[in-house]
Amino acid sequence: MKKTTILGGVAIVAIAVAVGLLWQNGDTRADDVAGTNILTSQPPTAADADAVMRGKYVAIAGDCVACHTAPGSKDAFAGGYTISTPFGGIVASNITPDPEYGIGNWTERDFYRAVRHGKGKGGQYLYPAMPYNAYVKVSDQDMHDLWMYMRSVKPVNYKAPETDLGFPYNIRLAMMGWNLLFFKNQGYQPDSAKSAEWNRGAYLVEGLEHCSACHTAKNMLGGDKDTYLQGSNLAEWHAPDITPNNYTGIGRWNEQQIVDYLKLGSNHVAVASGPMAEAVTNSTQHLSEVDLRAIAVYLKSVPAADNVPPQPLATESAQMKMGANVYSANCSACHNSDGKGIPHLAASLAENPGLLADDPSSIITTVLEGGRGAVTEGNPTSGAMPAFAWKLSDEQVAAVATYLRNSWGNAAPAVTAKEVADQRKLLKQPSQMPAH
Ligand code: HEC
Ligand code: HEC
Ligand code: HEC
Repeated sequence: MKKTTILGGVAIVAIAVAVGLLWQNGDTRADDVAGTNILTSQPPTAADADAVMRGKYVAIAGDCVACHTAPGSKDAFAGGYTISTPFGGIVASNITPDPEYGIGNWTERDFYRAVRHGKGKGGQYLYPAMPYNAYVKVSDQDMHDLWMYMRSVKPVNYKAPETDLGFPYNIRLAMMGWNLLFFKNQGYQPDSAKSAEWNRGAYLVEGLEHCSACHTAKNMLGGDKDTYLQGSNLAEWHAPDITPNNYTGIGRWNEQQIVDYLKLGSNHVAVASGPMAEAVTNSTQHLSEVDLRAIAVYLKSVPAADNVPPQPLATESAQMKMGANVYSANCSACHNSDGKGIPHLAASLAENPGLLADDPSSIITTVLEGGRGAVTEGNPTSGAMPAFAWKLSDEQVAAVATYLRNSWGNAAPAVTAKEVADQRKLLKQPSQMPAH
């Protein structure tokens, strides 16, 4: 990040804190519906069984486990996973009902305030890496069921490491200013002009499923830009445009193809990998058909990004020629000479909107480190793609990425060797091995 950007950030944070201090805590009222006499450490009774079951579904839709479980750990919800942000790593808390290190001493109302309003038990401000700006839309009923479920999970006596951000981002009070700028303190407002199905989809996408957290671009302070769901850079990955744009978005997918992607982790062209594979595996594959269809109906209705395809690059350029050679030697065995791949196994590179964004991060990452598609109950044998970091130079990766973005009807800006070199460094991937 450039120095001027950081200084600009500091100034904005300082102003925001000052304004924020003037702002009263008007946001606790909505949480008054929750009780204060039972603690999370008290297990639910047999009479609560239905609420616990419903709450489990809410927790899955909210994908709480993804952030609140350390990678490889069997202790679900015990925290310790670090979310990297441009401001530093933020550690997710232990939210099991353990009274010492978890939320066992919390009341239901404390829990609502954290999840919907980003406040810790002592009233301290949570970082928006916890997506409370989406969860603010969760209904009272779902909150109550979710809390019942959290009371039923195994308490884990584990102290998650503390978050330690550099100045000025270590000032939690600054989040008061952040909230003022970017937090819309409003529950889900149903749109009575739309169908119940559409409203269910909107409720899930905007709220529990927090799709915006990854798919909406962020400004310098980590607030959402107004390009809702039009794609965002996640460092290693690019979360693509999922508006109905016909070029970079999912405008050419019908509802069933969207449902397939979220249920199986793949559809006629795309295979979910990286963070989306996790979202599918932990969350969307477990949603009911009715909810998945509601999500598809809603996504088809959001305002489309206004991206238009550029002219495809000329096939005679030196970079395109190099790309064609790299492709036929290394890629066509799985992805085919027509780029169509093997449906539900090796992603199609033709007609795959996720590959056409200006930002080629996902393509470079996949080529350098290889990958695995989402593993789901509906598609348990996902395909694997080998890593090419050791085999291909930065120029070759850039060339093959440029080639696949400009073949079989695709058109997207060229990828440079510098972009590949930067990504290789970020991913800590080795350089190409010298040829013998
Ligand atoms: C995208 C990642 C992410 C997801 C998804 C997420 N959280 Fe969090 N959560 C965090 C982070 C990070 C923190 C710590 C924030 C901080 O330290 O300011 C946190 C903090 C919390 C806290 C406060 C704990 C404490 O001790 O202060 C609670 C409660 C909580 N989360 C509950 C949930 C629930 C319930 C869900 C699912 C509905 C959920 N979270 C989903 C990232 C996430
Ligand atoms: C943790 C970040 C994250 C979250 C949360 C997330 N996505 Fe994604 N999504 C991604 C990334 C990254 C990709 C690209 C995956 C790839 O290249 O294989 C993606 C890809 C997709 C695609 C495929 C688009 C294409 O053109 O190939 C769809 C559709 C999608 N996401 C929908 C959703 C929906 C709906 C939600 C909420 C239910 C959601 N995503 C939540 C990160 C995320
Ligand atoms: C052994 C088979 C195999 C080979 C060889 C192979 N791939 Fe793949 N590729 C896959 C599979 C399987 C997937 C889906 C899983 C994934 O995305 O990691 C995939 C996915 C992709 C994706 C989609 C990533 C995304 O973001 O959705 C791109 C781009 C890609 N491959 C490019 C290439 C290029 C370029 C080469 C040659 C340098 C290549 N592949 C070689 C099997 C292969």
